[in-house]
Amino acid sequence: MRARMPALALVVFFAGCAGGPLNPHGPTRPARLVPLYPGHSMAQHQAEASKVMITSQGTVSSQAGLEMFRQGGNIVDAAVAVSFAISVERPQSTGIGGGGFLMFYEKKRDRVHVWDFRERAPARAHAKMFLKEDGTPDPLRSIDGPLAVAVPGLVRGLWDIHRRHGKLPWATVVAPAVKLAQEGFPVYPHLVDAIKDRAAVLKLDPEAARTFFTPEGEVPPVGYRLLQPELAHTLRTIAEKGPDGFYKGKVARLMVESIQARGGKMSLADLANYQTRERRPVEGSYRGYKIYSMPPPSSGGTHVVQILNLLEPQNLRQWGPQHAETVHRFATAGQIAFADRARYMGDPDFSGVPVKKLTSKAYAKHMQAFFGERALSSATFPLKRLPDGPTETTHFTLADGEDNVVVSTQTINGWFGAGMMGQGTGVVLNNEMDDFAQKVGAQNLFGAVGGDKNLVAPGKRPLSSMSPTIIFKDGRPVLALGTPSGTRIITCVAQTALNVMEFGMPLYDAVAATRFHHQWQPEELRVEDPSLPEETLVALRGKGHNVVAKALGCQIQAVQRTAKGWLGVSDPRGEGLAIGE
Ligand code: DON
Repeated sequence: MRARMPALALVVFFAGCAGGPLNPHGPTRPARLVPLYPGHSMAQHQAEASKVMITSQGTVSSQAGLEMFRQGGNIVDAAVAVSFAISVERPQSTGIGGGGFLMFYEKKRDRVHVWDFRERAPARAHAKMFLKEDGTPDPLRSIDGPLAVAVPGLVRGLWDIHRRHGKLPWATVVAPAVKLAQEGFPVYPHLVDAIKDRAAVLKLDPEAARTFFTPEGEVPPVGYRLLQPELAHTLRTIAEKGPDGFYKGKVARLMVESIQARGGKMSLADLANYQTRERRPVEGSYRGYKIYSMPPPSSGGTHVVQILNLLEPQNLRQWGPQHAETVHRFATAGQIAFADRARYMGDPDFSGVPVKKLTSKAYAKHMQAFFGERALSSATFPLKRLPDGPTETTHFTLADGEDNVVVSTQTINGWFGAGMMGQGTGVVLNNEMDDFAQKVGAQNLFGAVGGDKNLVAPGKRPLSSMSPTIIFKDGRPVLALGTPSGTRIITCVAQTALNVMEFGMPLYDAVAATRFHHQWQPEELRVEDPSLPEETLVALRGKGHNVVAKALGCQIQAVQRTAKGWLGVSDPRGEGLAIGE
């Protein structure tokens, strides 16, 4: 029997699930390690240190953070330096043309600060801007080109955060990024793949064509030195003038001209009016751990907490981390959370979002009735499936010897965002408008179903899945993590946290273990490669799951407290670096 699952208003189908004794032998399956990224060693992905730990998706970026500490800076100086540097080192993933979220646990005040510098819809944006004449969505319009671009928040956000909490001069924290853009770096395989994938759209843009291809117009080979002189110039202006160097003056004008020349809506006023928001974290708990994560306009923190709440009573330890029963229950929790995401989540500045209810233990208890022997059905929203697009974003995590912690996820959304640049600025413009619902029930690049709370409106922030998360035990931060990869962020963060909190796995194994994901729509249980054992897949299919072998794209960057200080793990699936001292 398959259960139809309307969110919240529920009919009980099954009695709750198995409890039972814990497996005295611990996890029934060992963690499965994935092959390392070619050319990178495990040493690069794991580090232990007593004072400072940085994990990011870029080697130069992690080093830039460390350099700030060496110059006498604090964790926020380091985080801002990593942000700017990673903008240069991963132009396919993030950048000053995008936005993000940052959480900072400040030990001195025992407070988790939450900064929202998510992009906003331009003032001339409206709910029907991505619909064709016949009222059906035109997915490409919110993915490629000028209409896809939302007003960037990164520079304003980093400035506000640094002004409040930083110690070093602003120009000092921007400096490593300027140098990297000016002197360049050898192109790595992931960047080659991204350029290849987005070649058609990048070539339509004169500056992108000049920047990201060889003089002969070819996709650059691995090792080719990528120079971004226009970006270096813009970063220098920002170093000198602060946010006015980006949101006003020549850089702003060039970005707006480039967008408007191709029919886009962003204006100089949109840029000048951009504002960062400070928010309160989403809070949750799991078996004595205290969790802080990102609130709306991200759906991420809410659903990470919700998934953990749903799984806490399930006693997954009795089966172990990769048993079919565990995977099935994890998938069920994902189905419930993502159905709620579609229905309830959006920018809280525009409509109420029931975060308290969704993250309550009472709600999780109520929803236990949906954990049964069989996979749930997604029949409530019978939508046509869109193909997955290439996706990008980045995450980094820092911790220091005083117990301060920073987690930040930043993005331009898809690979190379909208595939266009502000001519003469070096700024790759985001396509964050695709995170809005083109219409109620439509799916975005990640297959996420959009509800009415996430329709486009002027000044609104599109719903995100980014989930920077800090976990405490006995009043001290013990684990901090996050990842890119669209909707998969939520399940990758939840699964990794579960691997540590429920199964007691060492951090490296918790990060490297095979991942699985269910987001209700599309109706598939994604399992990455190397996959689970065949008998597990057979058992999952037997429960009615449509098991699909597909990468999840997550690149967890995590730090964990150890007896000596901090252990950092940069996902071995990627080219990042964990570094400390
Ligand atoms: O905010 C979001 O949820 C998306 N724009 C994030 C995109 C992403 O993570 C793509 N990653 N690989």
